[in-house]
Amino acid sequence: MKKVLMVCLGNICRSPLAEGILQSKVDANTVSVDSAGTAAYHVGNKPDERSIAVAKKYGLNIKNQRARKFVVKDFDEFDIIYAMDENNYQNILMLARNEEDEQKVKMILNESNPNKNLSVPDPYYGGNQGFENVYKMLDEACNFITKKI
Ligand code: 4NP
Repeated sequence: MKKVLMVCLGNICRSPLAEGILQSKVDANTVSVDSAGTAAYHVGNKPDERSIAVAKKYGLNIKNQRARKFVVKDFDEFDIIYAMDENNYQNILMLARNEEDEQKVKMILNESNPNKNLSVPDPYYGGNQGFENVYKMLDEACNFITKKI
């Protein structure tokens, strides 16, 4: 079983979408996907209504997910840890205990745009178009992940 963790700041907008999208593309018997946030503001909450809505539009149900904070033990639990943006990436790396931990952490958009270190923009303070944009970027990245995983 390959275990993948999607990480953003609040674990209510971007990483719940990334979790839902990747899980929908892979065989659940061989790949498991979870998500977490580097901040604790929204722990225990459902995904943002706008993420739930854009997921539903594309046939995915993410409303049963609940936000949790990233913890050091996640380095032991997961094989690959995808950061949604540069800040998340740095915050996860700060918690790494050794090189093995560090090597698990990747910028998710480097899967679709190699070596560019692009960030998935935080859609929290914007409108629905931002969520649509995030969905499309994550869908493309997850297609690449699915091919190589
Ligand atoms: P996310 O978006 O990191 O994609 O879940 C955010 C959610 C909440 C906040 C910021 C970003 N916040 O400041 O509460």
